[in-house]
Amino acid sequence: APTAAVIPAAGRGVRLGPGAPKALRALGGTPMLIHAVRAMAASRAVSLVVVVAPPDGAPEVKSLLDAHALPDRTDFLVVPGGESRQESVKLGLDALPPGYDIVLVHDAARPLVPVDTVDAVIEAVRDGAPAVVPALPLADTVKQVEPAGAPGEPEPVVATPDRSLLRAVQTPQGFDRATLVRAHETVKDDVTDDASMVEQLGLTVVTVPGHEEAFKVTRPLDLVLAEAVLARRRL
Ligand code: C5P
Repeated sequence: APTAAVIPAAGRGVRLGPGAPKALRALGGTPMLIHAVRAMAASRAVSLVVVVAPPDGAPEVKSLLDAHALPDRTDFLVVPGGESRQESVKLGLDALPPGYDIVLVHDAARPLVPVDTVDAVIEAVRDGAPAVVPALPLADTVKQVEPAGAPGEPEPVVATPDRSLLRAVQTPQGFDRATLVRAHETVKDDVTDDASMVEQLGLTVVTVPGHEEAFKVTRPLDLVLAEAVLARRRL
């Protein structure tokens, strides 16, 4: 089944500190977004990458992609994004041509995901799962709290969910296209990932093993780690 990847890259990256939109910041001298696009194109199954650019940044992103080589088998499209990640993904899906029956959604902010993880996600969708997420066990214990009135104030702990039942999920998340489109048309609540919209349709989402190097570059320390991972790969 022809497979496309939608890459939401319209976030401002406020938590990373001041500067360009996060996806356009450099990692090993190359914009994070280019790493993310190449990570999707590294899978032989992926023949189209749809990049969702910052709302006023589509022409800039298009020239960036023109300037960086992708495998011959991979086409790309650039569309402007929206206010939320969810809206950006929806705009990417709207631009998807017919014929792509499997869709990956991958954060531009996860530039270093290995191709084996991408392929494992695609494989599980091919095997019949409507939605697939790469997942890892948690290192930290997680607490549910009563949110404080003001930042920095102590917060009462309400519960400690059993850590062995929790997973941190990554991207690419993989979907049967019709299911993902229906999820985006049906679910109007704010969500932080696409698979949770499929859960809300009452369908089963399954996990495959995630990878440490698929971490999300969110805060300044994540950039230090990402540079170190890249340097190790180049040895
Ligand atoms: O904000 P968060 O870390 O969840 O963002 C994950 C991904 O979603 C990033 O790649 C970011 O560029 C993208 N995003 C987007 N449109 C927004 C907000 C975030 O495409 N309005």
